[in-house]
Amino acid sequence: MRTQVGIIGAGPAGLTLGRLLENAGVETVVLEARSREYCEARIRAGVLEQGVVDLFDEAGVGERMRREGLVHHGISLQFDGERHRIPMSDLTGGRTIVVYGQTEVTKDLIAARVASGLPLLFEAEGVGVEALETARPAIRYRHGGVEQTLECDVIAACDGFHGIGRQSMPAGVLREFSREYPYGWLGILAAVAPSVDEVVYSHTERGFALLSMRSPTRSRYYLQCASNEDLAAWPDERIWEELRSRTAVDGWTLAEGPVLEKGVTGMRSYVCEPLRHGRLFLAGDAAHIVPPTGAKGLNLAIQDVRLLGEALVRWYESRDDSLLEAYSDACLRRVWRCEHFSWWMTTMLHLPPGADPFDLQLQRSQLRYVTTSQAQARALAENYVGLERV
Ligand code: FAD
Ligand code: DHB
Repeated sequence: MRTQVGIIGAGPAGLTLGRLLENAGVETVVLEARSREYCEARIRAGVLEQGVVDLFDEAGVGERMRREGLVHHGISLQFDGERHRIPMSDLTGGRTIVVYGQTEVTKDLIAARVASGLPLLFEAEGVGVEALETARPAIRYRHGGVEQTLECDVIAACDGFHGIGRQSMPAGVLREFSREYPYGWLGILAAVAPSVDEVVYSHTERGFALLSMRSPTRSRYYLQCASNEDLAAWPDERIWEELRSRTAVDGWTLAEGPVLEKGVTGMRSYVCEPLRHGRLFLAGDAAHIVPPTGAKGLNLAIQDVRLLGEALVRWYESRDDSLLEAYSDACLRRVWRCEHFSWWMTTMLHLPPGADPFDLQLQRSQLRYVTTSQAQARALAENYVGLERV
């Protein structure tokens, strides 16, 4: 098989890149290791930045998001038993975020590709890439028990943190930066109307909690836990009790309902540089990971492929490779801004194991400052809704 751009991975990055290139008349094949059902059910992020919402609209895949997504104008930070609203839209010239699950984004993108009749192979696992330094790179993949080769002009590795793209970079090319956090998140999806109408990030001496949502009838809640927390130790009643305790404020109660799904996620920061070697380009989680406080992972993945899409279209139209040459540096400017923001939100809100009173007072002071100084609140808000220029 042969195509122009071979895309490994049908997560948000790979599917969006496929759509952007389709709209510009560039041929792609998307290879995905898992089944369609698996990809469409994988519950992850939920907050879309304004720029990402606009991109989905322009790409013609935003119709259901506009109908069902929940537009939010603020978030709250809670500490010392009180909630403080950050009026993000007022602080950013009217910008908003949209709460719309990654599952729904994925379903919309898959449906659009299937409707266009373009190649999207599920259960097609990339096992290697070759000839990266030539004009005819190729992806070796296994599909239906048979190993096959996809020849391309360019390979886009959108295959997530554990994919083969990054691992196929020759030794010595990549520089890596990482940090592990000594905690994780226990997340639940519950069949109950959200008890809040905007996202709440809560700092307590028992650890962090986050109140979010997916729809008028589905709540998405998280608790700070150990990075290797055993889910068996968390029957539903214990989860609700802990959520109640970590989000309590006077005159408000947390409505409970059946827990439909629960899982534990570890937290890390990771960046590799550069995002290109020869004809192989990395995008999304294949190249970088942020801890989820700040809701940047999915948004960054889409911003990467926006740049990669523009660069490839320019190259196909005029053989001008200046944007391809600039791709890695341009992405990394936004990546590092989001790495800093995500680290800052994470360390401000989570209780480190063995935290002493000094740590807690610094966090409280920072939270008071962010919620009382307009300059600080604006800095948080403009990062949260997504910076236009980095
Ligand atoms: P992915 O979504 O990981 O997609 C990569 C795709 O490549 C997958 O479909 C995978 O199956 C496929 N693939 C991998 N290897 C191969 C191969 N060899 N061949 C073919 N296909 C392959 N972000 C937030 O902002 N908020 C959150 O609450 C949040 N929660 C998260 C929870 C979890 C458990 C995880 C893992 C991530 C979470 N994130 C969250 C991050 C966010 O979901 C990611 O940043 C986003 O999915 C990145 O999109 P992507 O397309 O780059 O990668
Ligand atoms: C959600 C996830 C996040 O990481 C976050 O910071 C806010 C909300 C969510 O899943 O809704």
